[in-house]
Amino acid sequence: MKKTLVLKVNPEMPEIEAVRTAASIIKKGGLVAFPTETVYGLGADALNSKAVRALFRAKQRPLDNPPIVHVGKIEDVYRLAAKVPTETEKLMKIFWPGPLTLIFKRSSIVPDVTVAGLDTIAVRMPGHNVALALIKESSCPIAAPSANLAGKPSPTTAEHVLEDLNGRIDAVLDAGPTRIGVESTVLDLTVDPPQILRPGGTPYEALKKVLGKVEFHPITVAEKQVPIEEARSPGMRHRHYAPKADLIVVEGEPSAVARKILELAETYRRNNVKVGVLATDETAAYYGDYVWRSLGSRNRLDVVAKNLFRLLREFDVEGVDIILAEGVPMEGLGLAVMNRLRKASGYKIVKAAS
Ligand code: TXA
Ligand code: MG
Repeated sequence: MKKTLVLKVNPEMPEIEAVRTAASIIKKGGLVAFPTETVYGLGADALNSKAVRALFRAKQRPLDNPPIVHVGKIEDVYRLAAKVPTETEKLMKIFWPGPLTLIFKRSSIVPDVTVAGLDTIAVRMPGHNVALALIKESSCPIAAPSANLAGKPSPTTAEHVLEDLNGRIDAVLDAGPTRIGVESTVLDLTVDPPQILRPGGTPYEALKKVLGKVEFHPITVAEKQVPIEEARSPGMRHRHYAPKADLIVVEGEPSAVARKILELAETYRRNNVKVGVLATDETAAYYGDYVWRSLGSRNRLDVVAKNLFRLLREFDVEGVDIILAEGVPMEGLGLAVMNRLRKASGYKIVKAAS
């Protein structure tokens, strides 16, 4: 066990001493968790293969699932990518810094372990002053998967990072809760038309406006487990976002969903199974007999996204055995939320009949 240093920083104007302390750890091959606008990432020097191997170990992440490499300037992409198509340059200018990860053919300076042996690399410029300051002071691109133990919900606060990784990493920069709450959208432009490999903080609608044509990899919108050989993004193969309890997603029109959840909850309770309900503001009043949390209003899917991972972790603390989660509309950030919920459930999806 190492001692994990907690460095509190101002999210807007990070104190330079704390950032330099963190950067010196990265430069020496150490591991530092830091906030981005989406979730907290666990950072290591992306060009130091030993540091990246330690990163996989700390997270207990399978070596076949490469992290995203974070850059501070668009120029940095040209060192990491073998080729930068014109279309991609346009996207970087419009969406960076921000929650959009782009896939490039990788250059030879990138160690194999950083890309899990693939010939492509995932890159993004995060929209958070602490992340940008850390990258600048470290003078290297930073490989950073989400700062949770593999399989757990991504951390949106430094406390969540410590729940999973205290004693396993060198430091965490604590700048309070993250703004978006779900991870970045992963977009692959090495195929035509471009394909969303993971829906996230940049909505499909915004990408479509710029690209004209953009498709979803079938797994991102799947309602059931898809065979492994169809998983083009390594992360698709692994169980994800899962709280300790089992989770069932109940989808459909809101009042039908509430009825179905109450019916299931009653059955579980009769069998002494402790139920937690993940509700929305519109239906929360129905669930007073159970442990419940509201994600927010169905009309504010950005708020729903921001609350999702925190509430999944809260159910762990409550010690519920089963979480019955309401499905939300598959638009805007709702798509990212539904992708996470369905994955967390292991595709246990119930359709409520209206
Ligand atoms: O918002 C985010 O993206 C956060 C913050 C910290 O930036 N990071 C994050 O990283 O979510 P991670 O490692 O938990 O997820 C990276 C995803 C995985 O699903 C991985 O399989 C995929 O990106 N990925 C990485 N490299 C890839 C590649 N070359 N081709 C396709 N998918 C790739
Ligand atoms: Mg992750």
